[in-house]
Amino acid sequence: MLDSFKRKIDYLRFSVTDRCDLRCRYCMPQKMKFTQKEDSLSVKEMKIISKIFFDLGFKKIRITGGEPLIRRDILDFLSFLNSKLKSKLISEISLTTNGTMLSKYAKQIHQNGIKRINVSLDSLIPEKYFFITNGGNLKKVLDGIFDVKNTGIKVKINTVLLKDFNEDELIQFVEWCSKNKFDISFIEVMPIGEFGVKRKDQFVSIDKAKNILEKKYDLNKIDYKTNGPSTYYLNNKLDCRIGFISPISNNFCESCNRVRVTSNGILYGCLGHENSIDLKKLILSGDLELLKKKIKHTIYNKPKKHFFNISKIDSDLGRYMNLTGG
Ligand code: 5AD
Ligand code: SF4
Repeated sequence: MLDSFKRKIDYLRFSVTDRCDLRCRYCMPQKMKFTQKEDSLSVKEMKIISKIFFDLGFKKIRITGGEPLIRRDILDFLSFLNSKLKSKLISEISLTTNGTMLSKYAKQIHQNGIKRINVSLDSLIPEKYFFITNGGNLKKVLDGIFDVKNTGIKVKINTVLLKDFNEDELIQFVEWCSKNKFDISFIEVMPIGEFGVKRKDQFVSIDKAKNILEKKYDLNKIDYKTNGPSTYYLNNKLDCRIGFISPISNNFCESCNRVRVTSNGILYGCLGHENSIDLKKLILSGDLELLKKKIKHTIYNKPKKHFFNISKIDSDLGRYMNLTGG
């Protein structure tokens, strides 16, 4: 489907839960208020919604959260998606996870046709990982990552850049990724959700991260593109692509190909806008034709660009990343 700016929109990011077994300090507060179960989408509703998108020509879906793998019925949804992959209605299913449950699910993820996953990892030092995630166990996550790697799935690491926290680990990150043949993306922290930390005190720009890396490795920009907004670089001594995602310092909206559905069924045309429709309400009203019409309308009217302002905390949108999905 094309939107009003003639962008081809064919990528759905679907947050299947706002819950998470970690509490990353830039993502959600310790005492997080989660959506009530009855307000969240059931798997049946998730199937209805995703099928409408596929019928509208969406070819790719990424499952996000919260932590998608803590939903007990996640395999039901993944196998539904796999059936659409097998019948060639869609071309790709991918997953963003914090990795805590990967050992348990590596095999099933592989069996359900997933070829690429993104794992969030902000430190390779156990104590620091424990700190930033408010209790996470690094070893468990790394074991899970290697279990997935061993099935043949391609792993990409997502690292949120955090001031005075992981700036000193960037070289180590790329060397570890290179050794294990994982791609990596460094992400600027976004002003989504607010809980007492000043975002500008956490913020490290992509330019700064690049400078740090370039002290040791020349970075050569390449044309490689995934569905995501990363710009990628290579170095001939490193066996991994290094990506940078800069929602703040560099707007990538012209090439945006995605819309998002949250775990409570809200469809957003853009992460940085409040324009949305409540799909759950429409499903409950029973009028699936209207549901389809409204989805089409929202895609067509996808905003031209987002605007985040790191120095202005008021620009926070009053929702957390775990609801909307990364
Ligand atoms: N800014 C940037 N990335 C974030 N994530 C969570 N909150 C933020 C934020 N405020 C990332 C996680 C994970 C993905 C789901 O989103 O680290 O990689
Ligand atoms: Fe959970 Fe990801 Fe948020 Fe961390 S960043 S608390 S892993 S949803």
